[in-house]
Amino acid sequence: MDGNIDKTILTEEVIQARVRELGAEVSADYAGRQPLLVGVLRGAILFIADLVRAMDGPLEIDFMAVSSYGSTTRSSGVVRILKDLDQDIRERDVLIVEDILDTGLTLNYLIKNLRTRQPRSIEVCALLVKKGKQKVRLTPKYQGFEIPDEFVVGYGLDLNERYRNLSYVATLKEGVLQTELP
Ligand code: IMP
Ligand code: MG
Repeated sequence: MDGNIDKTILTEEVIQARVRELGAEVSADYAGRQPLLVGVLRGAILFIADLVRAMDGPLEIDFMAVSSYGSTTRSSGVVRILKDLDQDIRERDVLIVEDILDTGLTLNYLIKNLRTRQPRSIEVCALLVKKGKQKVRLTPKYQGFEIPDEFVVGYGLDLNERYRNLSYVATLKEGVLQTELP
């Protein structure tokens, strides 16, 4: 294991079990429809890959990449679209799949932006929600886990692009955040 990893917050088994539950729940809710799952790059890649395999029924997948101005670990709320959807979402049932809801500023922007395109519905599925951190009123319809306000990595989440490939979610040792930040 990487020497910078402190403690595991969510094990692979715990994550996989919850993602299977979410997949079943989402599938049931969208039965008879063909939702478009929108993965937010790059943090949501592992989550969306597992989530869609836990779902049945027809669905489509697309991706968006956004960048939040500001530092790596703090969100500013000013969001730039780096990669937009490849398709029109008018009259579609859109489900945004996000890695983590921290301040909520990124998702808030994304939802507002996508709403202007007149989808039939738009909901959010977030793997992690940081407790008490949201600056905007935003409760995802689907959420995996509520976690304490600590910086975490793994299962798609990064620090300077590292640790995304871990199958679990963990905190970093004290001091790593300070030394790794640009
Ligand atoms: P928000 O706009 O503050 O909700 O945060 C948006 C983005 O910040 C998330 O999609 C993540 O990419 C990143 N982020 C927030 N908290 C963490 C964390 O604890 N670890 C890694 N990335 C994080
Ligand atoms: Mg990120």
